[in-house]
Amino acid sequence: MQTPANLTEEATASVITFENLRKSYGSLEVLKGVSGSFERGDVVSVIGTSGCGKSTLLRCFNRLETINGGSLNVMGIDLSRSKITSRSLRELRIRVGMVFQQFNLFPHLNVLNNLMLCPRKVLGRSEHDAKQEALFYLEKVGLAEKASFYPEQLSGGQKQRVAIARSLCMKPEAILFDEPTSALDPELVGEVLCVMRNLAAEGMTMVVVTHEMQFAREVANRVIFLNKGLVEEQGNAQEVLTNPQSDRLKAFLQRMSS
Ligand SMILES: Nc1ncnc2c1ncn2[C@@H]1O[C@H](COP(=O)(O)OP(=O)(O)OP(=O)(O)O)[C@@H](O)[C@H]1O
Ligand SMILES: [Mg+2]
Repeated sequence: MQTPANLTEEATASVITFENLRKSYGSLEVLKGVSGSFERGDVVSVIGTSGCGKSTLLRCFNRLETINGGSLNVMGIDLSRSKITSRSLRELRIRVGMVFQQFNLFPHLNVLNNLMLCPRKVLGRSEHDAKQEALFYLEKVGLAEKASFYPEQLSGGQKQRVAIARSLCMKPEAILFDEPTSALDPELVGEVLCVMRNLAAEGMTMVVVTHEMQFAREVANRVIFLNKGLVEEQGNAQEVLTNPQSDRLKAFLQRMSS
């Protein structure tokens, strides 16, 4: 991992900055002007009650949604415009990975081919290199022996670890996670959090929508609490979670711990 002393100016710059960001679906305004700024190496937990706009915010960050107002800059790419070039979009999707609640693995491909597909098609990697890298990342998530298995032959926790390895194969600079453990049986949550904890320790920039308060407490350095489309509270994870200021966050944390 790089030390602060040898980080370049570019490397220390904010990787995601948004100011007064608004997003509506028809007449429903979901994000009503949210602001924040994440640095390289940040692990950000996005928390809040169901329907408050967490997934929507995350999806704006890699342009699965187009914003309706305010500004959004991700990795130096201006996402405030209604149109961006296909080249910028391609660059964004390479540099920012996404891991979904439902894994989204390709069911007709085995694990190895799930991992090799995008590096081959999008990055133009040779079969040999793509395979070596896929095996490297499978090993990293503890699933080297499952390379020839199909998704249906894996547990939920294993599927999610494969999905994380698949994202890593694209060598992203940041990964967005949308409730990566909420579709899992409780006994499988730990193995996925363990992989994520290791990624965080290696310095990966991560934005994680999660209900796992323990993960938020132990691994995240920043927390954003959304409420009804607004940022109710944000800041240092320890401070925000141990000493919440707003009554709504206090009530939310109470509900989560009961
Ligand atoms: N594609 C869409 N079209 C119309 N409305 C949408 C769309 N996606 C989300 N919404 C609405 O936007 C609001 C926020 O949804 P979002 O998925 O961001 O919430 P969330 O905080 O992620 O909730 P949860 O914790 O249940 O996943 C909800 O009212 C939802 O119904
Ligand atoms: Mg959601």
